[in-house]
Amino acid sequence: MLDKWIVEFDKGLRTLFASAQSLRPHPDAALDEAELAAEEKKHALGLMRVNHCGEVCAQALYQGQALTARTPQAREALRQAAQEEVEHLAWTERRIRELGGRPSVFNPLWYTGSLAIGVAAGVLGDKWNLGFLEETEQQVGAHLDSHLSRLPAADVKSRAIVEQMRDDELKHADMAHDLGAAQLPAPVKGVMKLSAKVMTGASYRL
Ligand SMILES: [Fe+2]
Ligand SMILES: [Fe+2]
Repeated sequence: MLDKWIVEFDKGLRTLFASAQSLRPHPDAALDEAELAAEEKKHALGLMRVNHCGEVCAQALYQGQALTARTPQAREALRQAAQEEVEHLAWTERRIRELGGRPSVFNPLWYTGSLAIGVAAGVLGDKWNLGFLEETEQQVGAHLDSHLSRLPAADVKSRAIVEQMRDDELKHADMAHDLGAAQLPAPVKGVMKLSAKVMTGASYRL
């Protein structure tokens, strides 16, 4: 058990302080950089910083849940989805740099909070663990959809990344559902939406 925690602690440090790697090609790899007005670039940067921050939190959530998942099927599913989340981290991080910015200064804070939530969800048992995961992925998918309507139309590179992430997140939600996720009570879903609002508002700016 201690070994498991040490491995996860190491992953946490890498999430926050090292560059993530992607096995799949970056979704925007074949696309050319568009001419963006200064305002558009700033806006796209803010949105991509929010998405990067979301992926940092995804790392923490999945880690917390994998540490506590009871069945091998749940653990393996979480591990697979977590690998795709690492790729999302890599894609958004590179895009932030290309847009001339840096990741949110709040990342360590949200990371720690998400890890605690992941562990707490896991302690309740696999069905709630998976229920929390399904709801998170659904909310993130909807959130990414909203970004597709807010990102500058010309910023095809950011849009390609967000589109692929949205598809992946909805797949993660289905996976959790198929593994027997419980339906979360409405107030819990509401609290999740509210905390996501606080997080996205802060990371958009800094
Ligand atoms: Fe993701
Ligand atoms: Fe996901």
